[in-house]
Amino acid sequence: MLSKEMNERLTRVGPGTPLGNLLRCYWYPIARTPELDVEPVLAVTLLGEHLALYRTDSGKLGLVAQRCAHRGASLAYGIPEEEGLRCPYHGWRYDHTGQCNEQPAEPADSTFKDRIRIPAYPVEELGGFVWAYLGPEPVPLLPRWDVLVRDDLVRSIGVTHLPINFLQAMENSMDPIHFEWLHAVYGNYVQKRQGRPPSMTPRRHEQIAFDVFEYGIYKRRLLEGEDPTTSDDWLTGHPVIFPCILAVGDHTRPTMQIRVPVDDTHTLHYWYRTEQRPPGSPPQTSIPIDDVPYMHKNGRLVVETINGQDMMAWVTQGEISDRTTERLGTSDKGVILFRNLVLEQIEKVERGEDPMGVVRDRAKNEPYISIAREGVALRAFDIQRELTRAADREIAAAERA
Ligand code: FES
Ligand SMILES: [Fe+2]
Repeated sequence: MLSKEMNERLTRVGPGTPLGNLLRCYWYPIARTPELDVEPVLAVTLLGEHLALYRTDSGKLGLVAQRCAHRGASLAYGIPEEEGLRCPYHGWRYDHTGQCNEQPAEPADSTFKDRIRIPAYPVEELGGFVWAYLGPEPVPLLPRWDVLVRDDLVRSIGVTHLPINFLQAMENSMDPIHFEWLHAVYGNYVQKRQGRPPSMTPRRHEQIAFDVFEYGIYKRRLLEGEDPTTSDDWLTGHPVIFPCILAVGDHTRPTMQIRVPVDDTHTLHYWYRTEQRPPGSPPQTSIPIDDVPYMHKNGRLVVETINGQDMMAWVTQGEISDRTTERLGTSDKGVILFRNLVLEQIEKVERGEDPMGVVRDRAKNEPYISIAREGVALRAFDIQRELTRAADREIAAAERA
């Protein structure tokens, strides 16, 4: 169990907090590009900061503070113009650096606007996302993860807005044992309650292991009956990219789960999926997007899918899990490792160093950063993924009806 202070150190993401300073060293996806086709100005919250993301008619992107410096109306209702975002209330306009460049009601020769500036942050598009960086300069490179860039893949992006601190989702990714219980034993119980046959055979974890690498941690497992000299899940394992990405799937269909820390008690969870592009078919021109619900209309959490089961576990821990009352066992060594890694990286930032995985070397980033994955994903994951996608679609359709 942790002290209250330590739990705060590991979970508070706002400006000026130790973790907030660490998390600000990385880029985060804040919207899926197709969302801007529907609404060119979006209200976005990232790391506790309320922002307005906009795209002009010519495609220029900007990200500025939501609150107008004049009298506080929201720029998320602003008008995107080539020269910046105009406040809906009295027409003040801010360029992409946050500099006010027009105040229509002030005298033409006034220099007042020159002294008005609001926070603004760099944004870039990649892989169907708009990414933002809220940290100090020099701005690191936006990492070109293979899954975002490879041209042999077609993509789709689901999203879930979760009422939890992001660390709960990350700790789950460092906890291989839950697979055997939450997804197999409990998953089968849920199937049985629905009159369906079991979807997985629970297999005991004989060994779990974790290896820190340049961009994060590999978690590995050896299930009973598996050969340690051939098991891909033991030899390669699943990469967790620090601080907030789980990479799953094999090289033919790599996926990512990206847990964007919105604020202390909210996480924007992206489900980034890929399939092989059929040979000879044209590259994808637009990426389909969808919502993945974590709750049914009747208020019960979704437990009929792998994703739902994970989210149920995170959400029921509370908005910020009270780690002062937890009781960790030997099987929680991955969770402990992740927390220690976070604390170490906080200290690095406090010493003025880059934390792990910040990319500044263009040669490493081009054409993309390959993350070693299993050659062939664990079959159970693959089967479950199909079931999960089908069930997600069913649940989403039921919610819409
Ligand atoms: S509140 Fe924005 S221009 Fe007045
Ligand atoms: Fe899981």
